[in-house]
Amino acid sequence: MELLEQIQAIVKDAAEALAAAKDAAAVEAVRAKTIGRNGSFTALGPLMGKVPPEDKPKMGRAFNEAKQELAKLLEEAKDRVAASEGADPAKMLDVTLPGRKAPAGRKHPLTQTMEECCNIFRRMGFVATSGPEIEKVFNNFDALNAPADHPSRSAQDTFYFEDGRLLRSHTSPVQVRTMLSKKPPVRIVAPGRCFRRDTPDATHGVHFHQIEGLYIDTNVSMADLKSTLLAFASEFFGPDIKVRMRPSFFPFTEPSVECDFTCVMCGGKGCPVCKNSGWIECAGAGMVNPNVLRNVGYDPETCQGFAFGMGIYRLTMINIALRTFVFSLKTTSGSWNSSEERQVNYENLIELAFRLCGCEYRSHGACCDPDPRRNRSGRN
Ligand code: DAH
Repeated sequence: MELLEQIQAIVKDAAEALAAAKDAAAVEAVRAKTIGRNGSFTALGPLMGKVPPEDKPKMGRAFNEAKQELAKLLEEAKDRVAASEGADPAKMLDVTLPGRKAPAGRKHPLTQTMEECCNIFRRMGFVATSGPEIEKVFNNFDALNAPADHPSRSAQDTFYFEDGRLLRSHTSPVQVRTMLSKKPPVRIVAPGRCFRRDTPDATHGVHFHQIEGLYIDTNVSMADLKSTLLAFASEFFGPDIKVRMRPSFFPFTEPSVECDFTCVMCGGKGCPVCKNSGWIECAGAGMVNPNVLRNVGYDPETCQGFAFGMGIYRLTMINIALRTFVFSLKTTSGSWNSSEERQVNYENLIELAFRLCGCEYRSHGACCDPDPRRNRSGRN
């Protein structure tokens, strides 16, 4: 067949095939068969070089026109099938359908607890502060009355850097930083991450979170410490919580205490969560040691104060236990029968969970929201 006829035949066949094409795949097949890499029209390209010189202008024009025609036919067919595919009810977009929900992220439970703690202390006049996780040895130990040969340093062993700094082993250095930069009165809380060289197990890792508190003024006493922690606990857990103090030792406080809150699981009666003691240990605390005040340039004759350090994990665990309980309350039908579960005082827990939840549907025996803290009235 003459070259010109071949060109015309390809265009004619393509036009017929495209007119019959019903979908994008059929149009694509025609494109591949004609102007694709191995297409029949593409194959004619090299033959054009062999056309005698006198026929070249005519043939060249015919070739280019055919090429443009094919491109136009393909484009038109593509638009046509796209429009008709859109009209196919199976492929149509139903704008009345509800949208797809983007999965919403949430703050980490530890962050939520830290924020909630800060909010509660803020309402009592404390300022939320932070300090670096890589600290000077002086701030972490020496200024806190733990000189190089003090035994408490090995109990809080941590990672040291070549320049002599360390990963802070507690949030207490924020006390030092604050007092070095500010004259009394001082009232701060400092949440954050701390590091110790612990052997990892179920309750130990390379890091943990604390919230530090410090209140320095004139006439601050242990009574202020206890009432502050009690006010915090009743905000965080509910109004019936009690605080207990046991004598302890920290180099930076004198006297020093361990603070326990009544176990929210059993209301103080004793359960597996509190190891039958009725109390959960939540904070170390005490009156700031006069040596610490001197180390930061304060005069212990004119000011004194209290400090405390609370473990965020424990508060979070209790929080999550409560939420999980309320969630189970909603989703199970009273199948509590393991001996451990029976030891838990559910009456007390239900009361507390509903109170945290601010739920109005108590009489229906079901809680309105599996996440009680989100629903607490007047908060968050
Ligand atoms: N820094 C202590 C620790 O990590 C906790 C602590 C105890 C902080 C007593 C205090 C305090 O501020 O007064 O174990």
